[in-house]
Amino acid sequence: MSATFLSLQGVSKRFLGLLAVDEVSFDVAAGELLSVIGPNGAGKTTLFNLLTGQLSPSAGRVVFNGVDINGQPPQARARIGFGRTFQMSQTLTSLSVLENAMIGSFLHHRHISAAADHAYASLELVGLQHRANITAGELTLSERRRLEVARALALDPKVVLLDEVMAGLNQTEVQGMVDLVRTLNGGGLTFLVIEHNLKVVRQFSHRVVVLDRGAKLAEGSAEEVLANPAVIEAYIGKSKQ
Ligand SMILES: Nc1ncnc2c1ncn2[C@@H]1O[C@H](COP(=O)(O)OP(=O)(O)OP(=O)(O)O)[C@@H](O)[C@H]1O
Ligand SMILES: [Mg+2]
Repeated sequence: MSATFLSLQGVSKRFLGLLAVDEVSFDVAAGELLSVIGPNGAGKTTLFNLLTGQLSPSAGRVVFNGVDINGQPPQARARIGFGRTFQMSQTLTSLSVLENAMIGSFLHHRHISAAADHAYASLELVGLQHRANITAGELTLSERRRLEVARALALDPKVVLLDEVMAGLNQTEVQGMVDLVRTLNGGGLTFLVIEHNLKVVRQFSHRVVVLDRGAKLAEGSAEEVLANPAVIEAYIGKSKQ
């Protein structure tokens, strides 16, 4: 039997007195689109940071294709297939859109022309090729989010982690991003998505993991978890919506 694509095994992260992630375990299958939801401060971004190596866990293991990757820094994890966007925008606003995407493509392409071609192809995937040569600071919020996805795609990832890429977008822009993620996922790319918009979560998730105060509260289909009384209780009065 082949190894599980991605497996979190009893992963915890302690910040001094605060247990931000508390013994979280779940598996992700190749090709899956899994949403991670939970109230503000539940530990979602911290969990992503543990997956992509910005943080090391206080306990537990992250296993990717059968290999324990706990000791690997972000660059090494990018190399083996982790791409992500950040809740706090990482766009370099004084660089061009193409140059921002090239930050991703330099991982696999040393020569500038090859990196530029590859970055341009990533911009095409997100529909931003016509904006390639303007400075990123001129983009709308929605376009900047797409650029952040393009930069992740330029890494040629096997799994992409999106941290609230829909936040602040209008309904049309949200639908555009949903369509983009679905298309990429339909092509076989695995996604982990942190999302507060529960309509979106219902619309595209194969499976949902709910975090509350660091711990996994529920896991299952969107329909199942969003009908779970413990999940509803955790959300009341705490969610952004
Ligand atoms: N570097 C850090 N040092 C100390 N505490 C932190 C650090 N990063 C996060 N925390 C705390 O850990 C908890 C979880 O934060 P995290 O950002 O993971 O939540 P989240 O679920 O992503 O919330 P949101 O929906 O608001 O983005 C919070 O109480 C936060 O204040
Ligand atoms: Mg967060």
